[in-house]
Amino acid sequence: MSAAPDQYTPPAWTRPLAWFTNPHGLNDDRRLREAVQGKTVMVTGASFGIGEATAKRLASMGAKVLLVARTQDKLEVVAQAIRAAGGEAVVYAVDLSKPHDAAALAERVLKEHGHLDILLNNAGRSIRRSIHESYDRFHDFERTMAINYLGPVQLVLGFIPSMRARKQGQIINISTWGVKIPPGANWAAYQASKAAFDVWLRSVSTEIKPDGIDVTSIYPAVVYTRMSAPTKALHHMPGMSVEEAAHVIERAIVERPDDISPPWLWGMQVASVTLSKPVRWLMQKTYRPAFTKR
Ligand SMILES: NC(=O)c1ccc[n+]([C@@H]2O[C@H](COP(=O)([O-])OP(=O)(O)OC[C@H]3O[C@@H](n4cnc5c(N)ncnc54)[C@H](OP(=O)(O)O)[C@@H]3O)[C@@H](O)[C@H]2O)c1
Repeated sequence: MSAAPDQYTPPAWTRPLAWFTNPHGLNDDRRLREAVQGKTVMVTGASFGIGEATAKRLASMGAKVLLVARTQDKLEVVAQAIRAAGGEAVVYAVDLSKPHDAAALAERVLKEHGHLDILLNNAGRSIRRSIHESYDRFHDFERTMAINYLGPVQLVLGFIPSMRARKQGQIINISTWGVKIPPGANWAAYQASKAAFDVWLRSVSTEIKPDGIDVTSIYPAVVYTRMSAPTKALHHMPGMSVEEAAHVIERAIVERPDDISPPWLWGMQVASVTLSKPVRWLMQKTYRPAFTKR
């Protein structure tokens, strides 16, 4: 079996639809440089995919980037590329699914850098598995909650007091469009864990916004990375390259909106409420459970 590629290319027919299918980014070096120059930015999940591309881009615009993930060798490669291009990067090899380690990371970063300007919560894990295949896999639900919810909660808790004291800061969360529409089959563990953090952070944002801390939730559609690569159906769907996803995050940093979504998502949300019965009927009718196929 060949390994899934780290990244793959969007099908050509989807490109004319990009304005509608993808969240809009901002590719403006001048404004990005103004927003991040001299700032300390933590990028979780910086060893691959969206995080790697974003960290490189922010560093190239003058940010000091703190690279967080588990794979130290890969983080060092990313850091070396950043330094070779004249940027500043510090590596933190941490397993964020362990809340104790996430708390220790926040403490260490505040000690070593004094403060954090921007936290990009991007590290994540997806699992696509039907419930039929999950009866003896309770650990799937534990590990998605650990990395997509509990670890990030602990990390954010570690930085809020310092951001509040400084009356400034930004927390950006890479959520997923799946949390905004009726949940699709096979993604229960992933979608529930992403939804948990999405709701938690938006709830917290109401409390911390008056203290000068902005929160932006980003709802990307498909991004062509090693995470989406194993799901072959996604190869034929409209989506974004990691560089395009990085531009969406850049827009979040420059404009600091509450959320960024693809244009179609709003219509889907309305339809999922106003047409909830037909939508549910359609989803159930079109789903073919694995165990009925046998
Ligand atoms: N790709 C998509 O279509 C898509 C769509 C919507 C949302 N998203 C979200 O976008 C984010 C980035 O995904 P991606 O597509 O760029 O995936 P990716 O290429 O697989 O990158 C995931 C990153 O998370 C890190 N990570 C995973 N588990 C970790 C842990 N326990 N502790 C620390 N770091 C950990 C990985 O590094 P290590 O393995 O080195 O730890 C890696 O750097 C995720 O939150 C995902 O849910 C992706």
